[in-house]
Amino acid sequence: MPFTLPPSLLESDDIALILAFGKLSVLEACSVLGGAVQRAEAPTERVSALHVGRYSPDLLSELSGSHKCAPIVEQLESASSDQSVLADLLEDYLDVKSNVAMSGYGIPEDEYEELVREMLDGLRARGLRKVRLLRPDGGELLSEQVLTRKALDVVAFPFHGGFALGPTAWVPDSASLRQRGTRRPVPYPDIAMSPRLARTLVNLAGLLPGQTLLDPFCGAGTILVEACSKTLRCLGVDSRASRVQNARENLRWSGGGAEAGYDIRKGDARELPRMLRGTKVDGIVTEPLLLPRLDARPKTATARAMIEESARIYNDALASMAECIRPDGRIVMVVPVVQTMDGDEVTLTLEGRSLGLRLYQPGPVGFEYPVRLSFESTRWVRRAVYVFEPRS
Ligand SMILES: C[S@@+](CC[C@H](N)C(=O)[O-])C[C@H]1O[C@@H](n2cnc3c(N)ncnc32)[C@H](O)[C@@H]1O
Repeated sequence: MPFTLPPSLLESDDIALILAFGKLSVLEACSVLGGAVQRAEAPTERVSALHVGRYSPDLLSELSGSHKCAPIVEQLESASSDQSVLADLLEDYLDVKSNVAMSGYGIPEDEYEELVREMLDGLRARGLRKVRLLRPDGGELLSEQVLTRKALDVVAFPFHGGFALGPTAWVPDSASLRQRGTRRPVPYPDIAMSPRLARTLVNLAGLLPGQTLLDPFCGAGTILVEACSKTLRCLGVDSRASRVQNARENLRWSGGGAEAGYDIRKGDARELPRMLRGTKVDGIVTEPLLLPRLDARPKTATARAMIEESARIYNDALASMAECIRPDGRIVMVVPVVQTMDGDEVTLTLEGRSLGLRLYQPGPVGFEYPVRLSFESTRWVRRAVYVFEPRS
């Protein structure tokens, strides 16, 4: 997971994250950075500005729910303000003929143009007359382009009535994340989530290498493959024998679990205590998705009936998980949000209180559950995420 500028630049009080999943990515960041996050603001749906205390920038490279991280080095009152702090910093990392780009998030076109002009003027005034501007498609230079075209990218977004700017210092290796989903023996695009989302959910469980992660609705094992690549021990359960085989094939292919090991069993997620014979696991991450296949948006009444029918098994499975989680573990569970033809969203409420669970709230931010994913590719069934921890 590559730094494009020295990680020390991210030892800053204020950092900008460009989000892959909206609020869920902020939850992931607060979980990974722990108590270091003192405040998180969301100036646009794509961006979070974190105010942080002491932390190791290496932790940022764990985040898969972010597309870019940048220290916020310049706060401007208007688009035509002078960008001297940014230009002084960029000067150290640019050669005479380097490419630069500005990725704008939520900035009107004319103000974006003004910001770019000011950035180039600042660089030229510092003798970098041959610096070239790379124009990003749709206003954003993608992570892959930051890596392959070697443009020094600056992120810019509305902030506190003006604008904030910072050089992109870290981007994830999106290509290899994607390839883990497409190149494995059993891709199952219809039921499987993306490796990026799976890794984000695994990060939310907050486990250390060697600890055990359980996915009791493991399907083709997308979550477990990510867990294995973080050297977690993996335990998978699925009620269908074919899926058990699929998960085993994918895990064997990924090879990541060789050290820590994995165990995939056929079984019912509602009967975990019996299956595990009283053994507790360190973390649980799962996406049941128990709705019938939808080829079009249903009516609101139909969606409600479908959700109600599946609610029982979700809640029974949660009760079974609550019995198997260690007192310091977390349960991360994805629930469906059905988009209806009447323009409503129908989702499922999970009840943790009576099971001795509370909703996980890392740091001072305060998350409303279920936390919705703002960006993803599914059309009629979107995703939302619960994170529970046992009440001590
Ligand atoms: C949405 S899929 C999981 C996909 C998985 N997250 C992935 O990306 O590969 C849900 C899985 O739950 C399994 N399942 C359904 N009911 C179950 C139950 N009661 N216990 C265990 N597994 C169950 C299904 O066979 C299916 O493979």
